[in-house]
Amino acid sequence: MPHAYRAYPPGKPDYTALDLPPAPAHRPYILVNMVASLDGKVAVEGRERGLGSPTDQRLMRELRVNADVILNGAGTLRASGTSSRIDAEELQAIRRERGKPPSPTAAVISRSGDLPLDRRFFTAHDEFDAVLYLATSAPDDRRAALVATGRPVIDVPPHDTLPSALRHMRHELGADVLLVEGGPTLNGALLQANALDELFLTVGPLIVGGTHGLTAIETSTTPTVDGLTRMELIHAIPNPETGEVYLRYRHRP
Ligand SMILES: NC(=O)c1ccc[n+]([C@@H]2O[C@H](COP(=O)([O-])OP(=O)(O)OC[C@H]3O[C@@H](n4cnc5c(N)ncnc54)[C@H](OP(=O)(O)O)[C@@H]3O)[C@@H](O)[C@H]2O)c1
Repeated sequence: MPHAYRAYPPGKPDYTALDLPPAPAHRPYILVNMVASLDGKVAVEGRERGLGSPTDQRLMRELRVNADVILNGAGTLRASGTSSRIDAEELQAIRRERGKPPSPTAAVISRSGDLPLDRRFFTAHDEFDAVLYLATSAPDDRRAALVATGRPVIDVPPHDTLPSALRHMRHELGADVLLVEGGPTLNGALLQANALDELFLTVGPLIVGGTHGLTAIETSTTPTVDGLTRMELIHAIPNPETGEVYLRYRHRP
């Protein structure tokens, strides 16, 4: 077994204090968190709702304790709304003890700028900070509407959206740890940019079925055996109460 593997007793792990390597100079250290069904699907009826148990939701909040920024793709904002709230006093207290604000900064990345302005991401100014990374190719009228929400809109070049956003987080926001909460297209872009350091995947005891369906990581390229990305298992923790398994894998390029 590789040396990073740690054995845990079955049940719920504690994700409030992760032992993470230092961030590289040009981007934060990047964790991706997703929940999937037994047949590998991450959405049903167009949303992730119904796939994870309350324990999985709690683990999502515990992971947020470690993060300086929470990033979502625009598709997830459109489908479900996104926020970086932690919603648990004891978890916020851990962040305060570490000298961090109660909630991480929420971030969304988009090329189109076609975003629902009535979502909390744009309206809940008193609950959490948020930044939008928007390609400079987005139409001017959409950009103006987004700027009018009062959330900072950070221009990123269309040919280099994600690396530019990650550099901004590291250098301008001072982020050491970025937690990405999907969706699959953004996760795929991270993988292709060699910027997916760890994957936290909850596998639930459900089968979604269907003939299509999003999986945790979607790329537009055709996969090849030679191009497979190998991940190193850190832990696999079964929870007999929920029927879920909590997986943590690290990418060692
Ligand atoms: N099970 C889970 O844990 C989980 C978690 C999250 C989401 N989901 C599900 O995933 C589905 C959404 O999937 P999705 O793949 O569309 O979601 P997504 O990755 O959140 O959104 C894709 C969109 O994000 C923007 N984007 C992504 N990568 C970008 C990049 N490198 N540069 C600039 N913009 C970028 C683009 O926005 P524009 O189109 O605006 O240009 C793109 O169309 C929903 O059903 C949601 O419920 C599941």
